[in-house]
Amino acid sequence: MIKKEINIAFEEYKSIVELSSDEQDLCKEAVKALDNSHSPYSNFKVGVAIKLASGKVVYGSNQENVAYPSGLCAERVALFAIGANYPDDEIKSIAITAKTDLFEITQPVTPCGSCLQVMAEYEKRQENTFDILLYCINGPIWKAKGVNNFLPFLFFEDRLNKG
Ligand code: THU
Repeated sequence: MIKKEINIAFEEYKSIVELSSDEQDLCKEAVKALDNSHSPYSNFKVGVAIKLASGKVVYGSNQENVAYPSGLCAERVALFAIGANYPDDEIKSIAITAKTDLFEITQPVTPCGSCLQVMAEYEKRQENTFDILLYCINGPIWKAKGVNNFLPFLFFEDRLNKG
């Protein structure tokens, strides 16, 4: 038996003012995206802002449905919009935030496994990682350079697209 370990790396910032001004702006754009969340079933709003190499910012928010599994997370709403509308514009960074009236959010909200898997696909397509900023409005901010830090064991089966 061999014991193995994987290291992941991310940075924690005490408050938004410790980020670069571009990063602060993107976090604030993610807060704006919360307004378009359609989340009457969970009452949990998630907002996303993605900065592209062209300078364009693409927004996403969770879109729920009365048939619960038909809804979609904020991250994938934004990422699929980029795939559909700006497939050649490189993703530079993504800011994610959340808000609810039901309880106090004191830690960054980490994306679900499905959203991380989708982020990995976009990193692979553009052959470049992007920064992921998890912005807790009343708490710390976590920043990772590349999705592998949040999902070290993603599904990547290269043989699927051969032959
Ligand atoms: N949600 C997201 O938008 N992103 C995630 O990564 C996890 C969860 C949404 C889905 C649902 O509308 C609400 O948060 C509660 O699960």
